[in-house]
Amino acid sequence: MLSLRDIDFKGKKVLLRVDFNVPLKDGEIADDTRIQASLDTINYILDKEGRLIIISHLGRPKGEKVKDMSLAPVAQRLSSLISRPVKFIPDCIGPEVENAIVGLRDGEAILLENLRFYKEEEGNDSEFARKLAGSADVYVNDAFATAHRAHASTVGVTHYIKTKMPGFLMEKEIKWLSKVCESPPHPFLVILGGAKVSTKIDVIENLLPKCDKLLISGGMTYTFFRSLGKGVGNSILEKDKLDVARKILDKAGDKLLLPSDCIVANRIAEDAEVKVVEEIPDGWIGVDTGPSTMEHYKREIESAKTILWNGPPGIFEINRFSNSTKEIIFALKNAKEKGVIVIAGGGDTALAINKVGLKEGFTHISTGGGASLEFLAGKKLPGIVALML
Ligand code: 3PG
Repeated sequence: MLSLRDIDFKGKKVLLRVDFNVPLKDGEIADDTRIQASLDTINYILDKEGRLIIISHLGRPKGEKVKDMSLAPVAQRLSSLISRPVKFIPDCIGPEVENAIVGLRDGEAILLENLRFYKEEEGNDSEFARKLAGSADVYVNDAFATAHRAHASTVGVTHYIKTKMPGFLMEKEIKWLSKVCESPPHPFLVILGGAKVSTKIDVIENLLPKCDKLLISGGMTYTFFRSLGKGVGNSILEKDKLDVARKILDKAGDKLLLPSDCIVANRIAEDAEVKVVEEIPDGWIGVDTGPSTMEHYKREIESAKTILWNGPPGIFEINRFSNSTKEIIFALKNAKEKGVIVIAGGGDTALAINKVGLKEGFTHISTGGGASLEFLAGKKLPGIVALML
């Protein structure tokens, strides 16, 4: 793959695909992590006097022009983050876009409207891809979080723009996720959590042979418990995944650890009644990983050289059930300070880290949800493959 540093951007029209799929609340950006994550790429191209045409999707408007999913608020936020004007163009193809591109000067940027307002984007339609590519000289893809989608803006355009490369964020994601998949310093510890085992089966299959220990936590615990015939009360359960869970346990042997205790609640609310149990009684809900388990897991963290964490170990959105999530975040920060490679991934995991405010405690926090899971499962992501020469 080429790199941004290989190109003289002066005067070049650069089509930059980013993932600005940010959460919006009442028209305001609730979290701008994904905008911040591409700033290095954007500033670099502008400093080198490229003419920047930025494209992204937002939400799933399914080919309709949905007002609440416009990228207009993102243009404003981006402009204030880079302290330069970013003109918003209310379409992503057509005469208005073409005129705006003709008017672009060196070191200036425009942001085009949501790509998914056209169904042709997700359909990877070649005519739409050709129009998007327009007269651009260079294509840069920094949208790691969308790299698992073969869409017109991630794959199709690469057939029409010869010079193509990843942005700095995409490069960083590939570097660290490849490191854990291919050459992690050992002991290599994987900590998985989150509600469902179904979303992580492929990751477990891929990483089990490569890691030294795999710690299970969070909602997926209860599907594993049930597969062993244990009671789970009213905890979240994937009944159709009991066989798979059992097979994973048999295959993993003592490499895989399940919690030895859980925090259960009578309902999911801040003022719920809670207790610590080893067996979940009928009528109770597993809401957090228990204290003895956490002591054990923290010892595993202390002896690792590489740690991958994906999925919160409890319902951290509710303060009362967020103890184990906070404990993991602090333990990982301490590990990183001692030189351990600490990688985190997944939308909820990143949210939890932001909530605790300890982003600097990680070597890398992936911006990808589905994309990082597919990468960690060993799959080839079409948006990355398309950048290869
Ligand atoms: C994400 O949020 O994971 C990416 O932006 C991709 O979005 P999608 O799942 O709607 O394709």
